Amino acid sequence: MRKAIIAGNWKMNKTPAEAAALVNDLKPLVKDASCDVVVCVPAVDIAAVKAAAEGSNIHVGAENVHWAASGAYTGELSAEMLVAAGVEYVIIGHSERRQYFAETDETVNKRAKAALAGGLKPIICVGESLTQREQGVTEELIRMQVKIALNGVTADELKNVVIAYEPIWAIGTGKTATADQAEEVCAAIRKVVGELYGADAAKALTVQYGGSMNPKNAEELLSKPDVDGGLIGGASLKADQFAVIVEAATKG
Ligand code: PGA
Repeated sequence: MRKAIIAGNWKMNKTPAEAAALVNDLKPLVKDASCDVVVCVPAVDIAAVKAAAEGSNIHVGAENVHWAASGAYTGELSAEMLVAAGVEYVIIGHSERRQYFAETDETVNKRAKAALAGGLKPIICVGESLTQREQGVTEELIRMQVKIALNGVTADELKNVVIAYEPIWAIGTGKTATADQAEEVCAAIRKVVGELYGADAAKALTVQYGGSMNPKNAEELLSKPDVDGGLIGGASLKADQFAVIVEAATKG
């Protein structure tokens, strides 16, 4: 039915030469993966990563996309530009962009629609802060983030959407959500998508968990029925660690 996707989020790490070296290390380690393997990389690394990944099962993603087709948006990249560079996936709405770069649910929605219209597969990130979790509003917040992100996305387009549940308190902190916490929210994401698009669409949706996923905890997280993959930050920068997570998805 739905395929697991393990995606690396390299964030602001690796020069083009370092990026190519990492992909070259990774290729033999993940070549037999039964899940999809994606690396989302800084824009300047895309060409080097594409070249290094040529002929392998490693797919290339970007870390952001602008909603406009072109124009006076200094520093931004359009879906068309990314697709022309060989990019297939794009992370949208990562909590770091929400926190540091004024990303809102509305801009996430605009980016998601532009990505889909341009032929990219968006990995849409949602997640609560520790305060919001303690306030007991996690599910309401996630439902709202998902609904706004998907506003105006057609059922056909939804087939190319991945949603990543990334609790902010678990990102880069070494604090992982328990497998049950991850399952609870990933199931809630599937439920709201089911309400919007129907049961079949919800069943087909890939929902990832992200936040300090590592070789030790990946197998348990990925064994949960509604956790279909991972969005991996820190551990995706080490070929051997990332490969163990890919292997865990093959089992889960
Ligand atoms: P982390 O990052 O694995 O380093 O916690 C995950 C993410 O931000 O996507």
